Amino acid sequence: MRGIVLAGGSGTRLRPLTLAVSKQLLPVGDKPMIYYPLSVLMLAGIKDILIICTPRDVERYRALLGDGSALGLRFSYAVQPEPAGLAEAFVIGADHIGDEPVALVLGDNIFHGAAFQQVLREAVRQLDGCVLFGYQVHDPQHYGVGETDATGRLIGLAEKPARPRSNRAITGLYLYDPDVVDIAKNLRPSPRGELEITDVNRVYLERGRARLVDLGRGFAWLDTGTPESLVQAAQYVTTLEQRQGVRIACLEEVALRMGFIDARTCRRLGEDMGNSAYGQYVVALAREHGA
Ligand code: G1P
Repeated sequence: MRGIVLAGGSGTRLRPLTLAVSKQLLPVGDKPMIYYPLSVLMLAGIKDILIICTPRDVERYRALLGDGSALGLRFSYAVQPEPAGLAEAFVIGADHIGDEPVALVLGDNIFHGAAFQQVLREAVRQLDGCVLFGYQVHDPQHYGVGETDATGRLIGLAEKPARPRSNRAITGLYLYDPDVVDIAKNLRPSPRGELEITDVNRVYLERGRARLVDLGRGFAWLDTGTPESLVQAAQYVTTLEQRQGVRIACLEEVALRMGFIDARTCRRLGEDMGNSAYGQYVVALAREHGA
């Protein structure tokens, strides 16, 4: 399976924070925002990841993440010249996807919860068409909203409906079979001029091949689109990290636990981060694993 992180957009709701820096490079707690969605793809077992960003920021992403080899991964980069819609990721990423299934994660979405890795693994295993992930929110009108039958099959879908038929928001993590490339290529722009991910999902729904996996209570799906939600996300992450002494979305840790790197490599990566608390955490973890 291939992965795509979509880190485009101009982050207008976060200005002036985003006047000079891409939203997905902003800090959430002690690490850049993009670490969180990257960790999701890694937990799903995905090693080939395309990062799509604005032309302005591509060199900054490259400087941060490189070619991925340090983490036992393969990163490549592509640009989205204009914010022309989430579904454009499959057009831009067509070569990257080839005839593999693909997971798309939005670069500003934070997912955290117990057993998430099992949820992902199961969803990947069961993928037949598309899998979406639903999350209960109090303001579904701001999101894509889905309805399912008793078996989890998606039977209704609406983008930012004025009168939502459920409180199940569709999160920014999507799994598709390789048909998604052709589906995206055949889309017409919506009234707001974008290739809409909801239109992609509607095609799968109409084919009866869309499932919605509920992330359930006790799980966190956080937004980072406004200054307030950015602060809330940082508070959530920091609260848990300080309480438990573990780190959320520490890429070196995920790579180590997934077996993408060994403990010695992990230790070197930690040491490269000097005396930051994050670096020290990575070194300590490597030591626990024998390095
Ligand atoms: C997009 C999708 C929406 C989804 C949301 C998740 O909305 O169109 O269906 O619920 O991402 O973050 P946007 O944030 O682009 O308005």
